[in-house]
Amino acid sequence: MAELPPQAEASSSTTASTASCPAPLVAPEPVLAGKMRVADKWVKPNGPPVGSTFGARLLNSEKDVFEHNAWDHVTLPEDFKMKAQEIMELHRSSPVAEGLRDGYNSKPAHYWDKFYALHEEGFFKDRQWLRLEFPELVACSEADAGPKIVLEVGCGAGNTVFPLLMRNENPDLHIYATDYSARAVEVVKANKMYPRAEHGLGELHASVWDITSKPSSSSSSSSSSRTTTSSVTSPNSSSSTPASASASASSTSAPMTSSSSTTLEQGVSTLSLDREADEGYSLPEGIQPGTVDVISVIFVLSALHPKEWDQAIRNLYTALKPGGLLLIRDYGRHDLAQLRIKKDRLLDPEIPNLYIRGDGTRVYFFEKEELERMLVQSQEGPKEGEEERGVEKKMFEVLQLGEDRRLLVNRKEKKQMYRIWLQVKAKKL
Ligand SMILES: C[S@@+](CC[C@H](N)C(=O)[O-])C[C@H]1O[C@@H](n2cnc3c(N)ncnc32)[C@H](O)[C@@H]1O
Repeated sequence: MAELPPQAEASSSTTASTASCPAPLVAPEPVLAGKMRVADKWVKPNGPPVGSTFGARLLNSEKDVFEHNAWDHVTLPEDFKMKAQEIMELHRSSPVAEGLRDGYNSKPAHYWDKFYALHEEGFFKDRQWLRLEFPELVACSEADAGPKIVLEVGCGAGNTVFPLLMRNENPDLHIYATDYSARAVEVVKANKMYPRAEHGLGELHASVWDITSKPSSSSSSSSSSRTTTSSVTSPNSSSSTPASASASASSTSAPMTSSSSTTLEQGVSTLSLDREADEGYSLPEGIQPGTVDVISVIFVLSALHPKEWDQAIRNLYTALKPGGLLLIRDYGRHDLAQLRIKKDRLLDPEIPNLYIRGDGTRVYFFEKEELERMLVQSQEGPKEGEEERGVEKKMFEVLQLGEDRRLLVNRKEKKQMYRIWLQVKAKKL
C-alpha cells in the first residue's frame, strides 16, 4: 500500500462514512415499542437512534474548522481542484516504469494474496455504517424477509458479511462471500462464524471468484464449463493472462448465446443475443443467473483495470434477479489517498487515476459519471463497425449516485484533508 493500506482506507470509512451521502433509499424504520427489527441491533449504545440522520456534524463557519477532528458533507474549497490537478500532473510526469506495468496487471490476485497473508484477519471491522448506507442489505436479514440471496464481491476478510450474518434473523438468508484472493477466502472460512453464526440462522458460503472473469473460448458452447479467463493486460500489452488460476477453478461460467439466454429468460435476455464469448458471463460457485437479491461491491471496482469494468458489470448484472440491487461504494476522484501518492505509482500515463500501491495492489479513483457510465454502457448501441445490435434494453436504473465528502482535521498540525467516496445503488431492470 503506497500511502494507506486498502483495508485501513476501507475501514476508515467505517467511521467516516457515518457521514453519509444521500439519504438511504430504504429509510430505517423507527423503533416501535415491542417491535425490534434487525436494523436496531446495529445501533451502538451511544450511537444515533434508528431513523435519525447520520453525518450531522456540519461545518457552518470556517472559523470552527479546528473545533473537531472531522466534518461531514463538506464543500471543497475553491482552489482544491487546481491543487489536485497539480499533484496529478506530478503523477503523470513519473509513471511506473514501462517494463513493470504488465507484471502488475497480469497477476493482481497475487498481490492481494500477499496482502491477506500479511494482515490475516487483523483488520476485521464491524461496520456499523452498513446499516445506514445500505439498509437494503440489512433488510435481507430481517426475520420476515423471506428467502434472500446476498452476494458480496471482493469480500476481503469479511467486513461486510460477518456483521450481517452476526445479526441475521432470517433463516432463509444465504450470503455468498467471494474474493479472487484465495487467501482472503481462507481468512473468511477460518472465522469462527463460518458458515453459521452461533444463532444458526442463515448461511455463509465463501468461494474464490474473479469478478472480471469470463468464459474461455473453449467454454463458449457449454454452459457447464467451469473455466474462466480474464484478459487483464495493460493497453500496451499484446498478451492476455489468466488473472487467477484459483478463480478459474471455482467459477461457473456460461456464454450469453441465444440458447442460454432463452433459458435464463429475463436474467440476460435483454442483452444482444448474437454475441459470442465476449458477451459471456461467469458467476461464483453456487450462484445461478437471475437469482441474487442484493450484490455489494465495496472498495473493489477500484482494484480493477478500466478494461475489466464491462465484464465485471456484465457478471453482476447476470447474477441479479430483475429488481435486484447492486450496491457500490468506492474511492472518489481526488480522495486523500490519491493526493497522498508521491511518484512512480501511476500505472500508465495513458490511464490517469489508476495507480499501484506500495504492496503491488491496484487502485483507481472514480468520477461519479464513470461509475454511472459503467452501469449503462453495456446496454448501449452497436460497437464500432457493427450493425445495429439485437434487442437492447436498459440494464440498470441508477437509484443513487452520491459523493460522500468528509473533511479530516489534524488539529495539532492545523492540516485539513478531504476524503471522497462514491456510492451507487442501481436496480436491475
Ligand atoms: C480494498 S479491498 C476491500 C475488501 C472488502 N470489500 C472491504 O471493503 O473490506 C479490495 C478487495 O477486492 C478484491 N479484489 C480485487 N480484484 C478483484 C477481482 N478481480 N475479483 C474479485 N475480487 C477482487 C481483493 O482481493 C480485495 O479483497
